[in-house]
Amino acid sequence: TTTRRHEWEISYQLKSLDCVRKLSITINGQTPGPTILAVQGDTIVVRVNNSLVTENVAIHWHGIRQHGTPWADGTEGITQCPILPGDVFTYTFVVDRPGMYMYHGHYGMQRSAGLNGLIVVAAMPGGLDAEPFAYDGEHNVLLNDWWHNSTYEQAAGLASVPIRWVGEPHSLLINGRGRFNCSAAGVEEGSCDAGLPECATPVFAVVPGKTYRFRIASITSLSALNFEIEGHPMTVVEADGHYVKPFVVKNLNIYSGETYSVLMKADQDPNRNYWLASNVVSRKPATPTATAILSYYGGHTSPRRAPPTPPPSGPLWNDTMYRFNQSVATVAHLADVEPPPRTADRTILLLNTQNKIDGHIKWALNNVSFTLPHTPYLVAMKSGHLGAYDQRPPPETYAHQSYDIYTKPTNPNTTASDGLYRLRFGSVVDVVLQNANMLDDNKSETQPWHLHGHDFWVLGYGIGRFDPAVHPGTYNLKDPVLKNTVALHPYGWTALRFKADNPGVWAFHCHIESHFFMGMGIVFEEGIESVPELPKEIMGCGETKGAGH
Ligand code: C2O
Repeated sequence: TTTRRHEWEISYQLKSLDCVRKLSITINGQTPGPTILAVQGDTIVVRVNNSLVTENVAIHWHGIRQHGTPWADGTEGITQCPILPGDVFTYTFVVDRPGMYMYHGHYGMQRSAGLNGLIVVAAMPGGLDAEPFAYDGEHNVLLNDWWHNSTYEQAAGLASVPIRWVGEPHSLLINGRGRFNCSAAGVEEGSCDAGLPECATPVFAVVPGKTYRFRIASITSLSALNFEIEGHPMTVVEADGHYVKPFVVKNLNIYSGETYSVLMKADQDPNRNYWLASNVVSRKPATPTATAILSYYGGHTSPRRAPPTPPPSGPLWNDTMYRFNQSVATVAHLADVEPPPRTADRTILLLNTQNKIDGHIKWALNNVSFTLPHTPYLVAMKSGHLGAYDQRPPPETYAHQSYDIYTKPTNPNTTASDGLYRLRFGSVVDVVLQNANMLDDNKSETQPWHLHGHDFWVLGYGIGRFDPAVHPGTYNLKDPVLKNTVALHPYGWTALRFKADNPGVWAFHCHIESHFFMGMGIVFEEGIESVPELPKEIMGCGETKGAGH
């Protein structure tokens, strides 16, 4: 195994990802940041220099479980104090599984400002996790959504009474490129330039007759997406770093925080180009399709030439069952089946509701809206600062027999807390996420939930109210897929199981940036006593002021 070192400088720069100039957070001048390439078992060392001048930063390695390095998870307020302007912080961690992962800012809404990128971990050839499929070449696809207004403006709007919601994105991006219509209303004079190479349509080149692996990741702030390669069916073979039982799709639904690999055969007419397209689903789209071009080497057309057909517009945005069925079809590959424990030691049933605190709109779990403590849990717990966060454990369940998930909350008022769930080390934990109606009538949205520090088995999905007396009997205990991010469908439930076997403090939250910002998350602690002495560099804020370097 190899140690791969990276030196990063984080700074604000003016970028025109969709041809419109916007203040963006960059890594070494780029957004998305550089792709981290590694082989299973490698150690990654990233020295982060914070040159944001007046702003803190923290970077999370999404999907990397951080076994033995819980302080490197990069979650501000949970595993570390933020990196101050002018400071340097070194993240060191092992990538122990092959697959496609991501990294992104985990402080405020910095991820949405452009602080994100890919981690691609190749399997050890002939190793235990070798790929159960073959291909000739590969391409990476990072999907995102993008707004022209600043994330500070968005955050202030979300915290206002009445709320100023972020709204639908101005553009969708493929590998950091989109195309906004410069002559659209409201574009500031001189801020949009369709001729910039920065926003040129990306081209993916293929050799006729060959099979390609497309690794697809979504880092969106809000949007659920559908991805399609015009005229080329895709065979799904991997999800979140685990091999899945292959299934063929015309297009792929992908939620923020998820990654997939698909195989695609370049077997169409090489003398024309084809669209790669990304469209919003699950929310009523108000954003144009993002496009890229698939071009065949040796074909009689220019690789940059627009295909002769209109770009695919994706499935019906509100066809929940279409997306639900893809979720259910995603099960473990025979070569990657690791059956879950038969039973759980503890079940936490989490009702997701939209609520209010003093007129501010929030999201809550079992009527508790999450807030981050000022002293990171990991630091507070190891240094005995028990007053640093709410000592009362959050509720394990809600009144499921009397709560009507199809109507808006009768009493929308909720409370905020930074309490956390303490799990017995080594125990098996089930979490059942229950979706419900929001504050508006007839509205329930897809929530992609992401767990830090673990992969979980996805045991089942349903639409309607979860019944603890009935539904556990329908769980898939045979070949459930392991994932780190999973969809909770509108008015639905999703059941997960994981082993609390990774000493540390781990976030579990909705991966929609503004939903987490509005309180849609919880935190687990497990095995804190076996976390070794913490590096001093993660301290120095809140009640540990002065304890840092
Ligand atoms: Cu990719 Cu806590 O998030």
